[in-house]
Amino acid sequence: KASATLIKHGIVVDAHSETNQEILIVDGKIAQIAPSISDYPAETKIIDASGMYVMPGGIDVHTHFNIDVGFARSCDDFYTGTRSAACGGTTMIIDHMGFGPKGCNLHHQLNVYKESAKDKAVIDYSFHGVIQHVNDEILEEMASMVEQEGISSFKLYLTYGYKLDDESALRALTRLNQVNALTTVHPENDAAIALRRTQLLEAGKTAPKYHAISRPLECEAEAIGRMINLARLADDAPLYIVHLSNGLGLDYIRLAQRNGQPVWAETCPQYLLLDDSCYEQEDALKFILSPPLRPKEELEKLWAGLIDGSIDTVATDHCSFTYQTQKQRGKDNFTACPNGMPGVETRMPLLFSEGVMKGRISPSRFVELTSYMPARLFGIYPQKGCLAAGSDADLVLFDPKQQVTVSHDLLHDNTDYTPYEAMQSHGWPVMTISCGEVVSCNGEFMGKAGNGRFIRRDPFLRQKLEG
Ligand code: URP
Ligand code: ZN
Ligand code: ZN
Ligand code: ZN
Repeated sequence: KASATLIKHGIVVDAHSETNQEILIVDGKIAQIAPSISDYPAETKIIDASGMYVMPGGIDVHTHFNIDVGFARSCDDFYTGTRSAACGGTTMIIDHMGFGPKGCNLHHQLNVYKESAKDKAVIDYSFHGVIQHVNDEILEEMASMVEQEGISSFKLYLTYGYKLDDESALRALTRLNQVNALTTVHPENDAAIALRRTQLLEAGKTAPKYHAISRPLECEAEAIGRMINLARLADDAPLYIVHLSNGLGLDYIRLAQRNGQPVWAETCPQYLLLDDSCYEQEDALKFILSPPLRPKEELEKLWAGLIDGSIDTVATDHCSFTYQTQKQRGKDNFTACPNGMPGVETRMPLLFSEGVMKGRISPSRFVELTSYMPARLFGIYPQKGCLAAGSDADLVLFDPKQQVTVSHDLLHDNTDYTPYEAMQSHGWPVMTISCGEVVSCNGEFMGKAGNGRFIRRDPFLRQKLEG
């Protein structure tokens, strides 16, 4: 027996349109979209979306669930992480695999990650490949994963334990370009950070605020500019900058885009909504992440990038440690505190509230940033990222009139705080549908562990993206 749902009276928002339509879902897929649908199965469940925006479910292409960072493990696994995502209107995540034990290969890591997500994820998921170092063997392994495993993006870190030097980055960019994979990068100048950090520690400057002072925005902007030029040298390899936090870096990205270079950028709600005054607060350890929160004037520069199209996606970098863990580790020394913060559940509501409801971006642009461009860039369009017949029935219903005071008590993650406590959200995702099933309704989680599927992604094809 077919299971069917009909969504009526909503304003259907896609990346390029906003129309009054009805949506018929049959067996997990969108069967039909039309102004009026009269032909549907007898036991069809009817959802009245009066006054709501009906949008493609969010796709968060930057999470770190269950990640082992050496001296700590992030506290959301694929169950609590995807549960939290679902309750915030997100219907797919692409997680960053950890580095794994030294010397382990990518297939090993992929199997470990598939195993840890399989019985836990409540929504669909995929992974980005992450590499420890570059050699011929790993380059060939990456190449083979694109077709064989449906992994079509790989992340390079330019700082932290397994940082890549310029030669390695250039080799990776070149090979990934040849095999139609997208290179993503965490850009920060490791040498400059290491020097500043040593100097700060020698001077006894160990308070949380020195975390931000140890890695100023020039460290990030320099690495962005360097990676853009290396990508150009790698026969114009496609490049995706993750978690952009500042205007100077954005200017380098704009310059490359103006020159026709295939460069895209992601920012995150924390860089749009929070600034470095958080490091003056008593609970400053909650805001230890890299890149750090920036001076207030950077926020409007990033909003301008969302408005003018030079920033392409908003993801979260959800990498949660409890405040308790952060205090245990970092109270005497910022360098001992694990980096990262939660956010997978608040991305959609806060971007909607601060972006759409404040009139900075249109509902369609919101969809473009949170679902359509993520799907296109990471090889899952049109299966996801749009509302069209044949696509997965992954949707979110947004009530623009619902006002919510954000509080960790309302959220569904496994941490013990939200960086957005007490913020007012105008508009809220009141229902999330994943593959035709309601997984969240009015703040209540209704999904099931193990229902999420591993999604094989298409190779990255620039022609397809521009066509
Ligand atoms: O501080 C952060 N962002 N931790 C997660 C790892 C990363 O750099 O994306
Ligand atoms: Zn990063
Ligand atoms: Zn990250
Ligand atoms: Zn789905």
